Amino acid sequence: MDLIRRHFTLIDSTNTWAKQHAEELPFDKITLVTADAQTAGRGRFKRQWESPPNQNIYASFCFFIKKRRPDIGNIPQILALSCADILETLGFSPELKWPNDILLSKKKVAGILAETTSTENGLCVVIGIGLNVNMPLDILQRIDRPATSLAVERGCPFDVETVLNLLANKFSVDLDVFLNQGFVPFLNPYKKRISEQENRAVRFHDNNIVWSGTIERIENDGSLSLKLPDGSIKNFIVGEILF
Ligand code: BTN
Repeated sequence: MDLIRRHFTLIDSTNTWAKQHAEELPFDKITLVTADAQTAGRGRFKRQWESPPNQNIYASFCFFIKKRRPDIGNIPQILALSCADILETLGFSPELKWPNDILLSKKKVAGILAETTSTENGLCVVIGIGLNVNMPLDILQRIDRPATSLAVERGCPFDVETVLNLLANKFSVDLDVFLNQGFVPFLNPYKKRISEQENRAVRFHDNNIVWSGTIERIENDGSLSLKLPDGSIKNFIVGEILF
């Protein structure tokens, strides 16, 4: 799919803007909404996303699908994989934390927030990504969980626009493959990048409930199965492994 860009110097949230303007977006293209800074950057589980100016990528990929497909939940995993792939081409060794966090040195460097909104043109999918590119250590340390940036890992700054272009080009290609062939071509590459080892004891939450168990496996549909203390297997399509 062709991609067009809408850039803002300041915005509340690229995801929020995209959802509010979904009816005006071209239905046959990817619209990439970006900003230099966000005043109300949002993360998963209603968390805030630190979005200071001119340091990082704040971007939402918006596109339309005719109807809700059963594998729609894999789209953020595809973007996580695209992001990991481009970080590897830049010389990093990225890992994924299920389902779609991107880690460097076991710390989060990028996160993804996927949302949808119904329009006259079909379902508008909004996949937002925040990638810490040049965020310095003092700001990273304000974040209440281990976080890093490309600059901190490498010891030198990166050109934000260059990294964004790499990501946009890779995701456009990967999304076309996904929309035609589904998650199958991505399953093994995705599993290889996942940092969690099978049988590892974890705590896990899906919104309100915290579960304890061991990681059983990543299923073919990208979901996570945990073995609970009573020996039963519980499958999750959303949630978060707790550090
Ligand atoms: C997470 O919690 O890991 C997801 C973070 C997603 C942040 C990005 S920044 C661009 C887009 N706009 C937002 O408000 N959130 C996403």
